[in-house]
Amino acid sequence: MMDWTDRHCRYFMRLLSPSAFLYTEMVTAAAIHHGDADRFLRFNDEENPLALQLGGSEPEWMASAARGASAYGYDEININVGCPSDRVQSGQFGACLMAHPDIVAECYRAMLRATDIPISVKTRIGIDNKDSYEFLASFIERLVEAGCRKFVVHARIAILDGLSPKENRTVPALNYDRVYRLKRDYPGLEIVINGGLADCEQIDEVLQHVDGAMVGRQAYHQPYFLAELEHHFNPQTALPYRREIIEKMLPYIDRELSNGEPLGRITRHMLGLFAGQPGARAWRRYISENAHREGAGTEVLISALNAMPIAA
Ligand SMILES: Cc1cc2nc3c(=O)[nH]c(=O)nc-3n(C[C@H](O)[C@H](O)[C@H](O)COP(=O)(O)O)c2cc1C
Repeated sequence: MMDWTDRHCRYFMRLLSPSAFLYTEMVTAAAIHHGDADRFLRFNDEENPLALQLGGSEPEWMASAARGASAYGYDEININVGCPSDRVQSGQFGACLMAHPDIVAECYRAMLRATDIPISVKTRIGIDNKDSYEFLASFIERLVEAGCRKFVVHARIAILDGLSPKENRTVPALNYDRVYRLKRDYPGLEIVINGGLADCEQIDEVLQHVDGAMVGRQAYHQPYFLAELEHHFNPQTALPYRREIIEKMLPYIDRELSNGEPLGRITRHMLGLFAGQPGARAWRRYISENAHREGAGTEVLISALNAMPIAA
């Protein structure tokens, strides 16, 4: 998720869930091809298994970005055909590409020639007035012809004209049935469902129909949910104490600070750690007020813990 799942966030999430498959923010192929590739591609080894999400529609640049992803050790590359933002539409990538399956297929083929890493596609169930199962299935078939076997499907359409990106994550209705039907009709494909998943029971239910579940906002706003999910699916992994997670973040934070990274850039992802718990507000407030101060270091997190009304 752009501006959210950066490498700091993913390091933190990995501590909460040893086995979740994590995705980067979307990076444009153009940024990698023309810009400072290392800035966009580097990550901490601890983050694996990890997918790089790419946005773009230029086969040569997508192939070049795929080569970069191979060199950096990503486990998967995911093509973004789901993002509805204006900026993205003008650059011809994201959800508007659902109307141009040939372009996506051409990118897919070029990437396939450039790398051995599995390549998946993240898509919506439709766009604008192209809101039918047949439209979705024909898009998927074009990608299958190109070699794609894994699809992450955000189970709502994108309205490209008139809704903001945020509205496009809430206003169009969720339609899980359309995604389930895809799996029924193409049982050989790996279908991962996404959109509105917020508790373990719901995820158990969708997994009756598809192969995987992707969780976005709930994992960011309530990161401890990732630990609960891990425990739910791997009961041998004990639920960690939140304090433990914080303690494991401290050496990482020290290392990043010594490389010049500001504390707030890391701690902003940890604000939701106590969501729904007593003291959640005190935790958030202490960090928000203190992480940006000149010279702030890991003592801010220790003090934030101490500022909570009960032991974490
Ligand atoms: C701040 C934010 C940034 C996002 N950025 C991306 C992105 O870069 N690539 C992508 O495929 N989806 C992105 N999304 C969409 C999510 O991946 C997900 O499809 C959507 O939020 C629905 O899932 P959820 O209900 O579990 O959050 C973003 C969502 C949010 C809230």
